[in-house]
Amino acid sequence: MHLEPRRAPLRGGRHCIIRQTSREDAAAQLDLERAIVRARHGIVKHEDELPADAAAYAEQRDRAGLTATDGSAICLAAELEGGGLVGEATLLRLKLRMVRHVGILGLGVHPMAQGLGVGRALLSRLLEWARAHRDADGGRVLRVELCVRADNARAIALYRSVGFAHEGTRRGFVRGDDGAFVDDLVMGLSLAPADEGPSLRR
Ligand SMILES: CC(C)(COP(=O)(O)OP(=O)(O)OC[C@H]1O[C@@H](n2cnc3c(N)ncnc32)[C@H](O)[C@@H]1OP(=O)(O)O)[C@@H](O)C(=O)NCCC(=O)NCCS
Repeated sequence: MHLEPRRAPLRGGRHCIIRQTSREDAAAQLDLERAIVRARHGIVKHEDELPADAAAYAEQRDRAGLTATDGSAICLAAELEGGGLVGEATLLRLKLRMVRHVGILGLGVHPMAQGLGVGRALLSRLLEWARAHRDADGGRVLRVELCVRADNARAIALYRSVGFAHEGTRRGFVRGDDGAFVDDLVMGLSLAPADEGPSLRR
């Protein structure tokens, strides 16, 4: 599975390249995740819960199925032109046949590059891939879902703007840095044509 790199415009006249990640990106991906975790916004992880080095990071992603090349996962990176990796979006499809049409979305942008349009560019490209992808047997992604902290207004606004709906709330799911519990929202987006939508089959 190969996805052509694409140039995407950002705010302020800058551009980024959206491309698929490879194993060689592991060190930059770990640096990116570390920077996002250190900023302490929108995350559910502590820095000491990250893999120790790039090799361990790559291994963890292999184990999670994120590096699969059979269409069961896709990982996109955003690179600033003339700069490094500033964002990543992942879609990991569930394995069992009865839920294989479901993809779990992950998204993160470097704190220094947030608010420029990188997150939107990554999300748009990922959803474009999800809508177009067909497995060898015709299988496809019909539902994308994600979880987002209820105090993450920027992410929630972004997801809503591309059609995600708030489907449920996991009360007190996250313990914030101050010890207080924070709700977590489950959001979902149907990619099925209206006449094939899961809601018709309930
Ligand atoms: C959430 C995140 C991915 C968004 O990426 P980004 O590159 O910063 O966002 P963009 O610049 O593409 O902005 C996307 C939208 O966010 C919304 N937005 C931006 N800033 C906002 C703010 N301060 N408050 C509320 N909404 C805001 C707008 O709707 C914006 O849409 P627009 O393009 O019409 O202006 C990024 O901020 C991030 O990685 N945060 C930390 C980790 C995280 O929260 N990941 C998601 C976990 S579910």
